[in-house]
Amino acid sequence: MKRIGVYTSGGDAPGMNACIRAIVRTAITRGLEVSGIEGGYAGMIGAKFLPMNMRSVSNIICRGGTILKSSRCPEFRTPQGIARAGANLRAAGIDALIGIGGNGTSEGAHCLWKQEHIPVVICASTIDNDLYGTDYTLGFDTAMNTALEAIDRLRDTAAAHDRTSFIEVMGRNNGYLALYAGLAGGAEEILIPEVPTDVDALCQRLLDAQKRGKTSSIVVVAEGPTEGGITALANKVRERTRLDVRVTILGHVQRGGAPNARDRINGSRLGAAAVEALLAGETDKLVGLVHSKPHLTPLEEAYTKKKPIDQKMLDLAYVLAR
Ligand code: F6P
Repeated sequence: MKRIGVYTSGGDAPGMNACIRAIVRTAITRGLEVSGIEGGYAGMIGAKFLPMNMRSVSNIICRGGTILKSSRCPEFRTPQGIARAGANLRAAGIDALIGIGGNGTSEGAHCLWKQEHIPVVICASTIDNDLYGTDYTLGFDTAMNTALEAIDRLRDTAAAHDRTSFIEVMGRNNGYLALYAGLAGGAEEILIPEVPTDVDALCQRLLDAQKRGKTSSIVVVAEGPTEGGITALANKVRERTRLDVRVTILGHVQRGGAPNARDRINGSRLGAAAVEALLAGETDKLVGLVHSKPHLTPLEEAYTKKKPIDQKMLDLAYVLAR
């Protein structure tokens, strides 16, 4: 192995740049050449390769987004797309790959390995924290804190007006961000896809809270679980309870911003561990952190197995929000 390619793919996450920096500098220190691949799998198909050196990654540890850009690439889901990527990588002399991303990135890498036999490892990164084989994904911690800051601000204004504030956080099909930011923000209600929402029961709990003396409430809602989305849900609650309800969708604000210390440290550790894994002959693996130590998991397991949420944390949030 002489030259490796590095890429970021899927939804960007804070800490990806710290991870790129660690990969480039560890690889060069260990005698490898590094090519950056611009725009993830689309960049492989379009042969967008750029040489990287120690200075290519200067001053990026503190930056959100990804200097290598990212994309979602439907063409890479076809054998033809993968074959084109494989041919381009071989022509560019790229012997192995390190990707930074989540579920879709891991699935793409697994298919590339199976079809084109190019060794690949993935650094676990997504704000959703939904990858099996890692306790926390790169970017989750910063995104959670971004959501938390917004929840705190919305609590101030909800309390000032005796309102019920519905706040939608990201998470695709899982409730990690909602659960963690909700517990940290003292939310009265946390609605996640893992637990079906009973609207009547929700209304009753909000009215009961009022009877217990609460004048305002915070309802954190993970995107996706409710029919018609958060606005339809909030409208139903408003009609049935007559509470003064407001809705805020946090959206992509959760993806941007400077990575916090935890994500810079995790990005640095994951990137270095990924280079060492390739050098040790590993392929088709996710590099995650389990009990704070770098840990390898077969890619197929990482994107097919479900990482369950901790029901006890949800129960705790409800007890503490009384
Ligand atoms: O996977 C990260 C994520 O931000 C999800 O939480 C969200 O559902 C999705 O990406 C949004 O994707 P896009 O930026 O492509 O709209």
